[in-house]
Amino acid sequence: MSHILITGANGQLGQALRARFVSADKLTCWTRPQYDIADPVIADAVAEAAPDVVINAAAWTNVDGAEESPDEAFAVNALGPKYLAAGCARRGAALVHISTNEVFAGEIGRFYREYEQIAPRSVYARSKAAGEQAAGAVLDRLYIVRVAWLYGPGSSNFPSKISAAADQYGALRVVNDEYGNPTYAPDVAKAIALLIETQRYGIYHFVNDGCASRYDWAVELLRLTGRKTLPVTPIGARDWPRPTMPPQHAVLVNQAGAALGIHLRCWQDALREYVQTEPYE
Ligand SMILES: NC(=O)c1ccc[n+]([C@@H]2O[C@H](COP(=O)([O-])OP(=O)(O)OC[C@H]3O[C@@H](n4cnc5c(N)ncnc54)[C@H](OP(=O)(O)O)[C@@H]3O)[C@@H](O)[C@H]2O)c1
Repeated sequence: MSHILITGANGQLGQALRARFVSADKLTCWTRPQYDIADPVIADAVAEAAPDVVINAAAWTNVDGAEESPDEAFAVNALGPKYLAAGCARRGAALVHISTNEVFAGEIGRFYREYEQIAPRSVYARSKAAGEQAAGAVLDRLYIVRVAWLYGPGSSNFPSKISAAADQYGALRVVNDEYGNPTYAPDVAKAIALLIETQRYGIYHFVNDGCASRYDWAVELLRLTGRKTLPVTPIGARDWPRPTMPPQHAVLVNQAGAALGIHLRCWQDALREYVQTEPYE
């Protein structure tokens, strides 16, 4: 299965990708600080490594922190993919660049397909949108894979925080008016493995099927972990103040992947597997 190079290989998605591509003909895993995608020399490093496919799972993912540090966020999320794409272009390699549901405005009731107009609101969202554009400006062999509400084994994420808070407090307050697609990182990694076999470049929405509020997600997690009697109070996003207001309904639909026969299971089935899965070794 050719030479795969993963950036941000210690992140949540990066670890799922490592596990998925463990039997590739050659697997190269890059992590910080040795491989900083915000450094222009990364383009030379890619060309030298001569991979067939680069999967960029590295990103500035601190959404609230990006408001305070826009230059740093843009350096990683906008310039990083541009440098990687330039390195790929020199070698005839393909790039899978990971982006986010937050590039959409997230209007209530909307379900966003791959071809719809983006309207990023936060600094983080604008930096990710800029990354999509910057990579596309220098590389044709580009897959943009947008994901949402990502979680995976052994990482810090919404389910792990809900679990810890449930154990600590014995009762929870969870936002009930923010919707998304809870998405299991190993399912995204599996879908990417199928996608790169197709050489059908373009934009994809790889999210688990269905949508949920954060409240729905928390309640299902508690049910699956034998804590369904734990009191959970639904609250509004305004009752949980943050430096950024996330989009309220940035719910993605996987239309382009489905057309190629790439389907991700429903989010409840993926969550069930997550609660039964040990962290990566
Ligand atoms: N998490 C979500 O809910 C979510 C939702 C939508 C989209 N996404 C997108 O999905 C992708 C993967 O997210 P994730 O949840 O796996 O994120 P993550 O766990 O925060 O992993 C990101 C990785 O990127 C690395 N990194 C940061 N800056 C770097 C740089 N300048 N050079 C090289 N590596 C760098 C980090 O390294 P360190 O380990 O050293 O910090 C970390 O390992 C990102 O593109 C993100 O925007 C995530």
